[in-house]
Amino acid sequence: MPRVVGSLLLVVAAGVSSIGATGPAPGPAPARPLDQVVPAPERVRPGGSPYTLTPATRILADGASRADTREAARIGSYLAGLLRPSTGYALPVGEPKGDRNARDGIRLRLGTGDRNLGTEGYRLESGRHGVTITAREPAGLFHGVQTLRQLLPAPVEKRSTQRVRWTVAGGTITDTPRFAYRGAMLDVSRHFLTVDQVKLYIDQLALYKINTLHLHLSDDQGWRIAVDSWPRLATYGGSTQVGGGPGGYYTKAQYRDLVAYATSRHLEVIPEIDMPGHTNAALASYAELNCDGVAPPLYTGTAVGFSSLCVPKEVTYDFVDDVVRELAALTPGRYLHIGGDEAHATSHADYVAFMDRAQAVVAKYGKTVAGWHQITGATPAAGAVAQYWGYDATGSAERAQVAAAAKKGTRLVLSPADRVYLDMKYDRSTPLGQSWAGYTEVDRSYDWDPGTYLAGAGVPESAVLGIEAPLWTETIATSDQMEYMAFPRLLGVAELGWSPAASHDWDTYKLRLAAQGPRMTALGIDYYRSPLVPWPAG
Ligand code: ACM
Repeated sequence: MPRVVGSLLLVVAAGVSSIGATGPAPGPAPARPLDQVVPAPERVRPGGSPYTLTPATRILADGASRADTREAARIGSYLAGLLRPSTGYALPVGEPKGDRNARDGIRLRLGTGDRNLGTEGYRLESGRHGVTITAREPAGLFHGVQTLRQLLPAPVEKRSTQRVRWTVAGGTITDTPRFAYRGAMLDVSRHFLTVDQVKLYIDQLALYKINTLHLHLSDDQGWRIAVDSWPRLATYGGSTQVGGGPGGYYTKAQYRDLVAYATSRHLEVIPEIDMPGHTNAALASYAELNCDGVAPPLYTGTAVGFSSLCVPKEVTYDFVDDVVRELAALTPGRYLHIGGDEAHATSHADYVAFMDRAQAVVAKYGKTVAGWHQITGATPAAGAVAQYWGYDATGSAERAQVAAAAKKGTRLVLSPADRVYLDMKYDRSTPLGQSWAGYTEVDRSYDWDPGTYLAGAGVPESAVLGIEAPLWTETIATSDQMEYMAFPRLLGVAELGWSPAASHDWDTYKLRLAAQGPRMTALGIDYYRSPLVPWPAG
């Protein structure tokens, strides 16, 4: 049995109940059990006194070095910003040294702790005098803060003062992720999503310890990032979207701001320019990129597979070099995604030739290639990451091709379309989304194992870097629509990416998921109330 389940029984035995956790204040301190967290923590040891925040609670930042202390204080300020509106408490952020009143409070300790915590792990200890979160690296401390957030009653997420006893159950959580890569993708091309829409999504992802945001910045319907050396890509190629709306694009300043925001939430941004197919917006912007020298019209439909860069023309590689150089300069992250999917208007020989040159350009500008799994049909560069988006109906030859690349060192990110494509309808009544990969209810989305998913084709778990949930936007334009399709499936993706395989169990997961309902509601997340999940009434 997963350890977290055993610990739930212990919490109940210790007399701590989750009942009434979201109710108003009076009475003894109810506390959410320590394991009622998504994604499920690796190890939970409940016990001891709970801690209740008071108007005098301080956030104390402490580090192994000055830089660590500064970073811990930054994360402390972020935590205070989350907690102040609903608690109404001042929650000053300071350093414990020389502070005679520093015994009680929320302590954030960076640069110390067990080596096994790695780059993203943390330890959270809760007792009578406070909560202490310890991590070796900032990302770990940040993830620990997200756990603390979830241990507080759901109204903590509201933006106005709530009359609630802010109690955290006693005990210890020691937590590290199963997979290093836990991603979400936004297609900002089919429908343009504003900086504020993307920032809101980033905040929602951070709560569930997602650490990668893949931005699909170009497609047939729109080019969404300013490129100084090819300005019409954005000003003309970005001027529409599916259905013919005005579209839009990010200026470089806006894009830098977006990346900085993601970085502050410990998400790495992976920009994607999809090539050589999915390029109508670019081809429409510059006639010389077309083999016949004629620019096609802008496209606002939803067909795929009809466009291609002109592989034999040298100007194509000037374009690729300029775009990749400018995008790499905007990217502190390691990866640059060059698409490579559905290149049905490109011959196989041209595809292979193009990918050889495009991948070399990515390396020239210091980035590692990521691409959809079709790049395994070319020659993936050393260290490349291939994103598998096949599904149950995908043929064995295609799986074998991916497995052969994995054997040669290509790392895989898994995005099975009938499991984690967030644009797939839940069932036939879902008003948004598509169904080409099948309906994907919340249980189906959760109930698979990334470690063994491609084992039948010969892919070992060690080749799996992680998982990612793409949200394609042919049918989606607003944040409410994004939320309805992403939530609650995204929580299952987060859990598959983070939690130990041994804790995987739909029947217990659905209870923890149900407990997230009031939290999502408090956050204003317009999630799908799946009938498979026992959401609390109200
Ligand atoms: C894809 O869904 N075409 C990657």
